[in-house]
Parts: sequence; structure tokens; C-alpha cells
Amino acid sequence: MIVGVPREIKDHETRVGLVPSGVTALREAGHEVLVESHAGEGSSITDREYMQAGAHILDHAADVWNKAELVVKVKEPQPAEYPFFRPGLILFTYLHLAPLRELTDRLLDARVNGVAYETVVEPDGSLPLLTPMSEVAGRMAVQVGAQYLEKPNGGRGLLLGGVPGVAPANVVILGGGIVGTNATKMALGLGAHVTVIDRSLNRLRELDDIFNGQVVTLASNAWTIGENLKIADLVIGAVLIPGASAPKLVKRETIATMKRGAVVVDVAIDQGGCFETSHATTHTEPIYLVDGVIHYCVSNMPAAVPHTSTFALTNATFPYLLELADRGLERACERHPALREGVNTYAGYVTHRGVAQSQGRQWRELANVG
Ligand SMILES: NC(=O)c1ccc[n+]([C@@H]2O[C@H](COP(=O)([O-])OP(=O)(O)OC[C@H]3O[C@@H](n4cnc5c(N)ncnc54)[C@H](O)[C@@H]3O)[C@@H](O)[C@H]2O)c1
Repeated sequence: MIVGVPREIKDHETRVGLVPSGVTALREAGHEVLVESHAGEGSSITDREYMQAGAHILDHAADVWNKAELVVKVKEPQPAEYPFFRPGLILFTYLHLAPLRELTDRLLDARVNGVAYETVVEPDGSLPLLTPMSEVAGRMAVQVGAQYLEKPNGGRGLLLGGVPGVAPANVVILGGGIVGTNATKMALGLGAHVTVIDRSLNRLRELDDIFNGQVVTLASNAWTIGENLKIADLVIGAVLIPGASAPKLVKRETIATMKRGAVVVDVAIDQGGCFETSHATTHTEPIYLVDGVIHYCVSNMPAAVPHTSTFALTNATFPYLLELADRGLERACERHPALREGVNTYAGYVTHRGVAQSQGRQWRELANVG
């Protein structure tokens, strides 16, 4: 199959859908790979590296899209890319179609077969192509928190780990899932005092085992959250109720009880945030103050570390990409129910219930199309 890798054109997007090791593996499996010139630049991967791995470098996006049978990307196509859609093209990328009616129309009209990273679901319910970005954001949350605790950045002037004779910072993590666990690792590694609050007792048991009793685990309720925030230096919001807005666990009044110069990193902001005082910010203006508490609420944190994020993402996407290239969409989906869940549009039909419901459209089971 011919696999195409265009340069991402969405504002501030610097990741890329395939790395050179993926090119080599596709070539070894008998596929051809076309990469748009400078596609890897934002992630510090050069055209030369792609060439050495066996890719053909093409100067124009149009050539990549028009020659490829399977296009692998990171973000949903932008309007400038819509004219490249054509029947039978396989598009493998984050699509986030629910709020994107026009893109959905264009994919359906052009009969593009769109496989969305975010809806690939393994039989155990895990979301393998979302997990890597949660890992990145969880680890980054502690890094940015530590940075904003420094006095020149407006914080209380605390070193996260303290020093001998001086207490470390108090880090409180709301939600002990993927983001929370990765934040815990980083905070413990830097020597902070860490408390994880989750509503799942089983998850807290697992964390107690994983971290060998080094973290305080607490069952989630309003009183516990309120008491712990009074003494917190850094609070990381990492809760998720799948398919729903994040619960507002921290009330405005609670923020007023926190120390001046403490830092809140609301990673869950992409689902609306779990602090009543949160609103989404950007990498250009990442923070604002409420009652003297610094709020960092960037909704696309991994974009700040595109090299790491690209490799983390493609580690996860590549096995599915290879399967699609080796077998074609239909046979790959027969063998892998996870990929079947990923198919959002096929031959002019919406094939994902959630996308159809959120847009008030008809949908068809993939098996019934054709
Ligand atoms: N801002 C960003 O750039 C960025 C990047 C990646 C992920 N995220 C977001 O981070 C959030 C967390 O993602 P994740 O992968 O860790 O999810 P996850 O499902 O692995 O973990 C969520 C945890 O929240 C807990 N939880 C749910 N309700 C709770 C409550 N009332 N009190 C305490 N705990 C509660 C769950 O038990 C679970 O352990 C999601 O909203 C995700 O979209 C944001």
C-alpha cells in the first residue's frame, strides 16, 4: 500500500503522524511511504532522516494526499485539506468529529474511510491512542507546576523537593488514572510530599501498591478535598468521567482558602476542568490568577513537547497503522475489534454511534455497510 504523511497545518500543531522507524518497518513490510517535505520539522525530525529510513520526500501536500491510499496524520483535516478527499481513501488520525459537522459532511460526501485514534477501544475498555498523551500531560503537569512555584514566575518560591532540614512541597493530585499516576511518579521523583485523591478505592489500592506506600491515598469527597487544598502548594486536576464533562470537584470558595502563590494545574480542562475557577488557556498565555492562586489550564499540554509527544503517539498508533497497510481496512477490522471501533466514516455512512448521536444523524454498523 502507499502510505502518505502530510505536514500538519493546524495552528500550533507540531507533531507528525509517522517517525523514521515506522517508515523502515513499513518499507520492510513491502509498502511505499511518501512524506511531505518538513513534515517532521516541528518534532525535530529532518527530511534526511525520513529519506534514510526509505521514504520519498514530496514538496507538495497535494502530491502526498493524491498518491497515497492511506494517509496517517495527527489532527483532524483542516479546510485546506478537504479538496484532497476522495472515495476509498483511508484516513488514520485524531478526528474528534462529534462537534465537527462540516468535516463530517465532507468525509461522507467524498466517501473517505475515516479511522479516528480517539475511538479505537480495546476489548478491556482502554483507549490505547489517548493513553500516551495522558502520560505526557501527567508528567508535564508536575514540571510546569514546579516552574510556576518559583518566585520569578509568581509562585510561593518553593522547591518541590525541599532540602535537608526544609519540608518538601505538598502536591495534591485529584484523580489517580493515567494522568494522575504519571504526575505522582514525577512528583515523588522530585521529592515532593504527594497525596492522591480518587473516588475509586480499587484504584487507590493499586496506587498504594505501585508506590509502595510512599503516597497518601484518600477517598474523594468534598470535605477531604477542601482540607487538603488548604495546605497544598501544587494541585493537579486529573479526573475523568468517560464521555462526560469533568466534575467540578473544587468550588470557588475553596480556592479562596488556599495559600497565596500556590499553583493549580487543571489537566482535565479539555473536558471542562475540575475547578470552578478554571477556563482554558493557551501555551502563549498559559496562566491567570484567582485569589492569588496561579491557574495553569492549557488544553493541549503535549503540544509543548512535540518531539516526545510524536514518539509517544506513534509508538501507540504504529501497530494499528501496519495492520491497516498490510490487510486493508476491511480485513484489519475483521481481525481487530479495536480498529472497528475506530471507524467513524465508511463509504459515505457514519459508522460510529457516538458521533452520529452527538450530531443527530443516522448511523450504520460497519458490518452492515457495503
Ligand atoms: N490538558 C491536556 O493537554 C490533556 C492531555 C491529556 C489528557 N487530558 C485529560 O486529563 C483527564 C484525565 O485523563 P486520564 O487519562 O488520566 O483519565 P483516567 O480515566 O485514566 O483517570 C481518571 C481518574 O479520575 C477518577 N475520578 C473520576 N471522578 C472522580 C471524582 N469525583 N473524584 C476523584 N477522582 C475521580 C477516576 O476514578 C480515574 O481514576 C481527561 O480529562 C483527559 O482528557 C488533558
